Amino acid sequence: MDIEAYLSQKKKLVDAGLEAILSQEDMPVESLRQGVRHAVFPGGKRIRPILTIAACEAVGGDCPQIVPIACCVELIHSYSLVHDDLPAMDNSDLRRGLPTVHKVVGEGIAVLAGDELLTLAFETLVNLDGIDDRKKVGLIRELARACGTAGLVGGQSLDLEAEIKELEKTAVEEIARRKTAALIESSVGMGAIAGYADDEDVARLQEFGRLAGLAFQIIDDVLDAEGEQEALGKPVRSDKERGKATYPATFGVCESKAYAEKLTDEAIACLGSFGQKAEPLREIARLLSRRKG
Ligand code: IPE
Ligand code: IPE
Ligand code: MG
Ligand code: MG
Ligand code: MG
Repeated sequence: MDIEAYLSQKKKLVDAGLEAILSQEDMPVESLRQGVRHAVFPGGKRIRPILTIAACEAVGGDCPQIVPIACCVELIHSYSLVHDDLPAMDNSDLRRGLPTVHKVVGEGIAVLAGDELLTLAFETLVNLDGIDDRKKVGLIRELARACGTAGLVGGQSLDLEAEIKELEKTAVEEIARRKTAALIESSVGMGAIAGYADDEDVARLQEFGRLAGLAFQIIDDVLDAEGEQEALGKPVRSDKERGKATYPATFGVCESKAYAEKLTDEAIACLGSFGQKAEPLREIARLLSRRKG
């Protein structure tokens, strides 16, 4: 299959969906509007919402609301990056080749832009038409789990703590699981739920997302250690500078790459029962493990 064409087609759908969601918001302060839009557009790879759509297809689902559902995942991801880049967190000035949100609108409004994106994701899910309440609650539960202490907040707080405190070697996995793999797991899980998959299939796809999500953070760490700012659109070598608990810092670059490959293979092995319909998920997992940006 032509995975590049697949990704670009889905990215267009996601971008249009995000535009539709944001254009409905009445933001009372111009800098807030600017900050929110800067966090979302032009955007990055859109890999999480594309995984949501691909997971729905993998279970043979036909959900008319799959694009707005997928966009909610991207809203959460966008919020997490705005806060991650703040001076109080990773203190980063560059994201996707552009100044970070707080550089454009100031720190206070950047905090609020993140809050807005987080809130808007759940508001959008709650207000979706044409899906029954049971499914809606399942989607909200899945997304909330990725946001709270089991996910982003838990992982990001451990990540910050690791800057000032020596952690056990195993902590690096715990951090990555929560801060990154949890949202990727939920991205895939939400696609499966949206497609009315049974519990076993939801669990198989969640496991795929968890493993691919872990590999994703390992590669992100490796790229910080040996990639190029131009290709990444964000600063490099910043993890070492800040004393982050990363895979390369803990296990070395070589071992980290090999582990990411192993996790990717394990992720793909979770998709055995889905046949051809899961081919985009397989291709995406392979592509992500070899990415340079
Ligand atoms: C970056 O995520 C943050 C991590 C969780 C590693 P992405 O690499 O998906 O960022 P964009 O959205 O494509 O810029
Ligand atoms: C992932 O970790 C951050 C989030 C989960 C938001 P990083 O701090 O490594 O992400 P980048 O490298 O800044 O994109
Ligand atoms: Mg960080
Ligand atoms: Mg960061
Ligand atoms: Mg990083």
